[in-house]
Amino acid sequence: MCGIVGYIGTKAATSVLLKGLKCLEYRGYDSSGIALLNDSLFVCKKKGKIIELEKELNGLSKDLSTYTVGIAHTRWATHGEPSDLNAHPHVSSSGKIAVVHNGIIENFQILREKLALKGFKITTQTDSEIIAHLIEYYVDKYNDFLTGVFVALEKLEGTYGIVVVSRDYPDRIIAARNGSPLILGVGEGEIIIASDASAIVEYTRKVIYIDDREVVDIQRDSYQTYDLLQKQVEKPVEDIDWDIETIGKKGYDHFMLKEIFEQVESVKNTCRGRLLTETGTSRLDGLNLKPEDFSEIKRIILIACGTSWHSALIGEYLIEEYARIPVDVEYASEFRYKNPILTKSDLVIVISQSGETADTLAALREAKQKGVKVLGVTNIVGSTIARESDGGVYLHAGPEIGVASTKAFSSQVMVMIMIAIHFARRKDMSLESGQVLIEKIEKLPQLIQSMLDTAGDIKNIAEIYKNASNFLYLGRGVQFPVALEGALKLKEISYIHAEGYPAAEMKHGPIALIDENLPVVFIALKDSIYGKIVSNMQEVRARGGKIIAIATEGDNEISNYADHVIFVPDVDRMLSPILTVVPLQLLSYYIAVMRGCNVDQPRNLAKSVTVE
Ligand code: F6R
Repeated sequence: MCGIVGYIGTKAATSVLLKGLKCLEYRGYDSSGIALLNDSLFVCKKKGKIIELEKELNGLSKDLSTYTVGIAHTRWATHGEPSDLNAHPHVSSSGKIAVVHNGIIENFQILREKLALKGFKITTQTDSEIIAHLIEYYVDKYNDFLTGVFVALEKLEGTYGIVVVSRDYPDRIIAARNGSPLILGVGEGEIIIASDASAIVEYTRKVIYIDDREVVDIQRDSYQTYDLLQKQVEKPVEDIDWDIETIGKKGYDHFMLKEIFEQVESVKNTCRGRLLTETGTSRLDGLNLKPEDFSEIKRIILIACGTSWHSALIGEYLIEEYARIPVDVEYASEFRYKNPILTKSDLVIVISQSGETADTLAALREAKQKGVKVLGVTNIVGSTIARESDGGVYLHAGPEIGVASTKAFSSQVMVMIMIAIHFARRKDMSLESGQVLIEKIEKLPQLIQSMLDTAGDIKNIAEIYKNASNFLYLGRGVQFPVALEGALKLKEISYIHAEGYPAAEMKHGPIALIDENLPVVFIALKDSIYGKIVSNMQEVRARGGKIIAIATEGDNEISNYADHVIFVPDVDRMLSPILTVVPLQLLSYYIAVMRGCNVDQPRNLAKSVTVE
């Protein structure tokens, strides 16, 4: 998704802004640009990677080191192709105002026509350009920068995180948010504003989270926040408790590989202080549920998108199995528009790594609007979902930079396990069963290590199948969502078409695809339905399909049916997804690397999807 950085201080703005943009690269983008301000406004924009922008800047005869104010942007195209022209910042017709924008302006077409009639020259295909003209128009009309921005914002429909500078006000930056995150970093004599804290932490840990429908007027050593009615709003300054070191690659070739290998630690961090052996339950104080709430909850609705939706599906199996509460799982994008039937006895839990996904946030708001309690499961402290939920659980997985989610997924599954046991112990689960389960959960992080130790074998398997055009992933019960996740991971980073299915569904259609060119990944653990999965494997074998099996350690039979086997320690079937997903993450990673794909920033994908 697009990234924003703005700086006002005493340092050379260019280097702060370029560094900031590089911290946001992981979010995905196709062009970048910068606007620098003193008594003139200098703008440079380039299609492609930030290095192209840097090359262009370095090739100039102009001395940029004197600029101490500026804004910059990485664009991920929505309206108009990726090009130098469509890149941000956008500049108003007279060259006075420059704007960077994340989000989508839904009424841009009407505004475009109106502005054209007023004589503004529209030069790009973007929805964002009109913001610059609109602000110029109202700043001139009211002869005041802040008032002009306020009035312009009234005319915009849609979502925005914007940062604006004006040539007539060289010591100010104005920013506004509605649906697209903005964080203000407050340093000594300098302020940096960004769409993501990773662009800020090198300069300061003191931040202010700008909320929707808020505007902030920024100068070098002061700022003032307002609501859209121009009323001043006092905001708390909060501390960020991680630093730039935490998000380096630490010797790994890619962030994704580092994050896969971090899962022993990240899952440990997710459960730290939350597993209570003595009482056989989990401590999740953030849920903010009173004892009487538990008896009132008759249904839980889990809502998410993408990988987080897969962890929700696993949550459904876990909560129904342990807590015996009916669970529905919804795609956020569908839930928000279907006029969902909700009652007071429902509990909604939204799951989002970033805490900013537009559909998930809209689903949260829809559920709250209908008077239902909403909990959020997210990795990002202070994210919009975290702040708008009635309670929730942080993943504490650490920053996830690779666009394809890996460690956030295993931490989400861990949170689902802890939520399931938390509810179960309030209902029918005995102390002893709770204690046995907690003991098993505590062993999981170390068992992830044994899965990581299979990386060499998986690399060999990847070498054999790296040129396949299609893959099928099959699993049953709680392994079905793992099959979906394995398929999603492969398709998003290697661009190989992959599908996940419940294994028994194979005979209802996908079996038609099977021939010697189709690798099929089976998650075939030794459990009560093992025999059924083995039958499905035989059906694939009979048709020449190649089988990669994820099987239980000690299963001597499985190699009779599979071409390759990766063994998983013998754990409780309900807890096993946190292990079985690891070889699937590694398989996708190695295949993508062998195919020369950009693993950390796959084409067309963004880390945080803040548009519909
Ligand atoms: C896949 C992936 C996406 C996200 C989805 C939801 O690897 O990362 O499918 O899971 O966009 O994002 P969050 O969890 O941030 O709401």
